[in-house]
Amino acid sequence: MFTNKKVAIIGVGKMGETLLNSMIKNNLVKKENLSGSTAQEEHAKEISKKYDIRTYIDNKEMVLGKDIIILAIKPQMIKRVITEIKEVVTERQLIISIAAATSTKFIEECLEKNISVIRAMPNTPALINEGMTVLCPGRYVDKSHIHMALDIFGAVGLVEVIQREELMDVVTALSGSGPAYTYIIIESLTEGGVRMGLPRELAQKLSAQTLLGAAKMVLETGMHPALLKDAVTTPAGVTVDGLMELEDGGIRVTLIKAVSRATEKSKEISR
Ligand SMILES: NC(=O)c1ccc[n+]([C@@H]2O[C@H](COP(=O)([O-])OP(=O)(O)OC[C@H]3O[C@@H](n4cnc5c(N)ncnc54)[C@H](OP(=O)(O)O)[C@@H]3O)[C@@H](O)[C@H]2O)c1
Repeated sequence: MFTNKKVAIIGVGKMGETLLNSMIKNNLVKKENLSGSTAQEEHAKEISKKYDIRTYIDNKEMVLGKDIIILAIKPQMIKRVITEIKEVVTERQLIISIAAATSTKFIEECLEKNISVIRAMPNTPALINEGMTVLCPGRYVDKSHIHMALDIFGAVGLVEVIQREELMDVVTALSGSGPAYTYIIIESLTEGGVRMGLPRELAQKLSAQTLLGAAKMVLETGMHPALLKDAVTTPAGVTVDGLMELEDGGIRVTLIKAVSRATEKSKEISR
């Protein structure tokens, strides 16, 4: 279904390049059908050389005749870029935007046409194919569009589809920003290990792999995290003392508040 589609990525930066790379690696799109644009000519040349694809500085020229246009630019650039391309965009094209805090309605209105727009919120572990992406369809999207977006983001991790776009703010705050919260947890557990005498490199490995393993246990067993925690916690054992310190430090409330506060910020920016 996909290999013959022509895909244009506007903004081959961190996220745009990740998607480009995975589409090539997973043979989702033929190289001759893939193109990308950047703001700076030097960067465009570099991408062209690295991936052997056609790159552009002129977005209008690039999107002509493409089936899927991925907007991977910063949110503040969206309006300007859409103004640039809207004259040549047609209703047979699908637009996928990964810009944070930018609604499908906003994009549809900027385009002033009945264009299919899907909003996607990926996260940085997509770089190593362990991403979490949430998709939300705009008003003119049909099932075939969703399938194409599922293929693109499914190649870099797990994907979920939601219909209520207002939930994209909490998605941004949870899985979009989440890697940053998790790095702090890894860093802190490492510090604990170092404080008690472990070499730093070893402590970091133990922390990171423990988070990875625990996360996989939740995903693969489907068990409630509380039950998995209970299975590690022997009466009067070691773990329960550690847990008591976590509760004393308010770890649960802190994490709940982090997601709530970041959701509010995403809402504020969206407005
Ligand atoms: N990073 C994340 O964790 C994450 C997660 C989810 C969603 N997002 C969203 O993904 C989008 C991109 O983020 P990023 O982290 O990948 O940013 P980034 O690394 O700064 O990439 C942005 C790219 O856009 C290019 N660009 C700027 N203006 C352009 C224009 N007029 N035409 C074509 N290309 C243009 C830049 O080109 P030059 O390099 O030549 O300047 C750059 O390569 C943002 O909207 C962000 O909200 C990011």
